[in-house]
Amino acid sequence: MSQSEADRWDAKYQNERESWLAQEPRHLLTANAFLLPGKGKALDAASGVGTSAIFLAQHGLQTYALDISEYALRQAKKRAEAAGLVLEAAVTDLSKPWLPDNYFDVILNFHFLERATIPFYRRTLKSGGLIFFHTFCKRPGQTEDRIYYLEPGELIGWFNDYEVINYTEEDSLLIENSKERSYAQLIARKP
Ligand SMILES: C[S@@+](CC[C@H](N)C(=O)[O-])C[C@H]1O[C@@H](n2cnc3c(N)ncnc32)[C@H](O)[C@@H]1O
Repeated sequence: MSQSEADRWDAKYQNERESWLAQEPRHLLTANAFLLPGKGKALDAASGVGTSAIFLAQHGLQTYALDISEYALRQAKKRAEAAGLVLEAAVTDLSKPWLPDNYFDVILNFHFLERATIPFYRRTLKSGGLIFFHTFCKRPGQTEDRIYYLEPGELIGWFNDYEVINYTEEDSLLIENSKERSYAQLIARKP
């Protein structure tokens, strides 16, 4: 595990605890919750404090939250327990992923980009399962390191053999912390 990355995120969650806990589940999920199955297994990859994971658990899915930050996952567990829900949580470095084949009915990947996960997401999702993906995309002329940003067309390219239910990219601007950011988002069903 990358300890420095884990420490960095632990510190961030400790310093910004209240603002993370105040967030709503991601809009891509809540606006499309009608697509979710009423039962089955769900993965929230890089779940943070579990806001979207708890939404899935409330929906009746057996939900697994993975994240590099132990501190964030403790918050997620506490919040789930307070709501009378069960949330499975495991500290995991998703830069070295492993996920069981043919296991999940739903996967969330929100505000996180680790390209090594993509082949595992594809294999762990069951036939008929759904992936919800939303993260930042490079803006025209942007020169920041590509590891943190999707390239135009990259996200849909990974899932172009899936049934694409929702896809938006690039010049849709999201204002976050007063910064304008481009993002790409996808909901797709595995054939
Ligand atoms: C911007 S937050 C997003 C959290 C949550 N998905 C959301 O929508 O609010 C990014 C998350 O990625 C996690 N993370 C960063 N690197 C990771 C890694 N290598 N493996 C697993 N999680 C990681 C961080 O701890 C943090 O919770």
